[in-house]
Formats: sequence, C-alpha cells, structure tokens
Amino acid sequence: MITEKTDILVVGGGGREHAIIKKLSESPRCGKLYACPGNAGIAELAECIPVKATDIEGIVKTARERNVGLVFVAPDDPLMLGAVNRLNEEGIRAFGPVKEAAELEGSKVFSKGMMKKYGIPTASYEVFDSPEAAFSYIKEQDKYPVVIKADGLALGKGAIIAETPEKAQDALRSIMTDRVFGDSGKRVVIEKFLTGPECTVLAFTDGTTLIPMESAQDHKRALDGDKGLNTGGMGAFSPSYYYTPELEERCMNEIFMPTVRAMKAEGREFRGVIYFQLMLTPDGPKVIEYNARFGDPEAQAVLPRLESDFIEIIDAVIDGKLDGIDIKWNKNAACVVVAASGGYPAAYETGFEITGLDKAGERPGAFVYHAGTKKKDGATVTAGGRVLGVTAFGKDVPEAAANAYEALSDISFKNMHFRRDIGVRK
Ligand code: AMP
Ligand code: GLY
Repeated sequence: MITEKTDILVVGGGGREHAIIKKLSESPRCGKLYACPGNAGIAELAECIPVKATDIEGIVKTARERNVGLVFVAPDDPLMLGAVNRLNEEGIRAFGPVKEAAELEGSKVFSKGMMKKYGIPTASYEVFDSPEAAFSYIKEQDKYPVVIKADGLALGKGAIIAETPEKAQDALRSIMTDRVFGDSGKRVVIEKFLTGPECTVLAFTDGTTLIPMESAQDHKRALDGDKGLNTGGMGAFSPSYYYTPELEERCMNEIFMPTVRAMKAEGREFRGVIYFQLMLTPDGPKVIEYNARFGDPEAQAVLPRLESDFIEIIDAVIDGKLDGIDIKWNKNAACVVVAASGGYPAAYETGFEITGLDKAGERPGAFVYHAGTKKKDGATVTAGGRVLGVTAFGKDVPEAAANAYEALSDISFKNMHFRRDIGVRK
C-alpha cells in the first residue's frame, strides 16, 4: 500500500495520459511524476523521459533508476506486450492488467468466445481464420449490413460495417489478404449488426469487486454528423444521455460482474480499468467491445469529474481491496473537444506553432489536455494527429460542451480541425 508520498511513472504520451497525470498530481500522496514518453503539456507536471511506451525493458529500467513506487501503464500496446507482467516480475508495483487479462481487448476472438461461454450479451458471430471460408460465409448471408472485425489491435479502426456483399468482400480482402492491420487480421470475427444508442462505461476492478465510473460517450468519426473516417476519438462527454440508474443495475448484473467473474474463472483475473463499449439495443444492453484501459478521449471527460483520491483507488485495485472504497464524483457534466491536425486520421503535417493555450487554460473550469504536442525553440508545436483536447464543465452536457468550445476558440494552429457537434445527443 502507498502510505506516504510516492514517485510515479506513467507510461504513454497522449491526452489520456495527461488526464491521468493531472489527476494523480491532485492526490496528497503524489510525489514526483515521470512520463515515458509524455508530451509538452505533461512536461508541466512530470519529467518526460524519451522512452517509448512499447519499450518494455526501457520502462523497467527507468522505473528502477528513478526508484518509483508505482508505474501506471495506460495504453493498450504495452499492456498487451506484458508490461505489467514484467514490472511485477521485477517487484515493481504496477497498475494495469497483466497480458493474460488484457486479452479482453487484445483478441476479439477471445473476448467474443468468453461472452458466449458465460452468457454475456453481445452480437452473435462467427470466427474465420481463412479468407476463403470468410468469403463463402459472406456469400450465404442474406441480411446486411454485417460487421467485420480484425481479431487483434487495429488503432480503433478494425471494425468495418459492410452494407453489401461487395463491401464485405473488400473489407475481408484488406484485413485478411492485404493485412492492413498486420497480424491483427490473421483471424476475423464476422458479427450481426446491432442497432441502438451507444454508451461507454469505464470501471475499476480488482478482479473481484467492480466499481463503475460515471458513464461517457465518444465521437469516433472524423467529421460532423458522424461522417468521415473512424478516428481514435474526436471528443467525448460524461455522463451519457442514456445511462440511467436502472440501466446501470441491469449492466452490473448482466454484463459487468459476469465479465469480472468470467475472467477470474478463466484464470485471467483482471485488475485495472475495464472499458465497456455498450449498445443499448431493443433487446437490452449488449457489449460491442471491451478495452483493457482508460479510453482516449473518454478519460479526459471522466477523470476530471473524479473527486476521490485517485491513488487510493489505484492502490485498492492493485491490492484487491476495492470493496472498502467509496468513490465520489463531481455532479457537473464534462465535455472534451479534440483539436486535430487537418487530414487526420489520414496523412497530415505537423510542426505548426500552437497559440492561445494559456488563455484557454485560464478560463474557469476549463483545462487543455495535450496529446500530440512538443516544444520547439520555446514554442509549443503540433506533433501528432490528435493534438489536444479541451475539457470544460457545465451543469449538463450541452453547457459543458459550450464551455469547451468557448475555451477552444482561444486556441489556433495551422490546419486545425475539430468537430462542431461534440456533446450533441445522437
Ligand atoms: P469497435 O472497434 O468494436 O468499438 O467498433 C467501432 C464502432 O463500430 C462501434 O462503436 C459501433 O458504432 C460500430 N459497431 C461495432 N460492432 C457493431 C455491431 N455488431 N453492430 C453495429 N455497430 C457496430
Ligand atoms: N476512444 C476509444 C478508445 O480509447 O479506444
């Protein structure tokens, strides 16, 4: 248990990690903060060390050299690569699931199989490991669209909704034959198309107890009105318009607790944050996908609302003591609007100076989370697809969104692109 001020290393360098670091920094038990690799905004709160999030041995070495009391592994790739397993082997305290548990996100074939085995509601599906078998299955289908998903990680872009048999064939060809997502496309899941509003619930779990956070919703497409390509997320807000206390009770009984128990029964006890992407279908809530970590940008809308000591919760998750914890949330809504480089998620240019950051950050209740930024000759410049996210509070989501847009209006950089409908009910 962490009882005194502790130095902490956070793995990652996006907006989500900035939100995690900001919340850690508010804890009375937070000592010096480090980030691998961090970004220009994170550098104001933590020492950034140029070690990649996927360089597991580099992270272990950094944690040792800096003698940190905790390593928080935030992104999916290092979790799947076994960062927490390696840190545990070295006797370094780490937050995040071990790789066996992170399979919940790392393999759709695994997560769908688990849901089927334990009766957790999700879309019905078939698995294919040869393109020929997948093509002939597609030909037999008479109901479209169908949803085709690469088995492994695909930067949030591995799910394709195919409206026609031709589009389904194209999708299979690009995933399985052309391997646009690399080995993630060795196998595919083809599943039934579901309808209904979506919402996201992040939850802390210590492997036995699960405590949901406040609900959220993200906006995945690049353009207004959910048009354009899928991105990592162009904005998010909390709470969801649809997630009622009754629905939460139902999700606890039918989805959340069964998932935690199933993972334990499979010998893959999950300690960390589970991200439930839910679709509220006419037949009830169903799991669209799991992630094994905080979402980005969901974290930038949910974590600012956390009022309890983050380090106390992290500690309880690691030690299996979550049942003794009461988590308090700010009743105000929060909304984050992402500003991206023009062209993202396809090709884009970087290196442009960002102005107005201080002015935006000084607005009451607003905060600028950096994602793809770096310092160059004393200026803050763009360095990635998603550049930053501005979060603000409000009495409800529309007010929070209006405040976030107002703060964002202070900021500019060349080719800046953002959606104008974040926070709108859909
Ligand atoms: P995923 O990468 O699995 O989160 O899927 C990305 C998006 O595709 C989801 O947020 C949904 O909007 C959509 N989607 C995924 N699976 C289905 C499904 N079975 N039915 C309808 N839409 C889906
Ligand atoms: N915003 C979706 C994710 O983090 O996976």
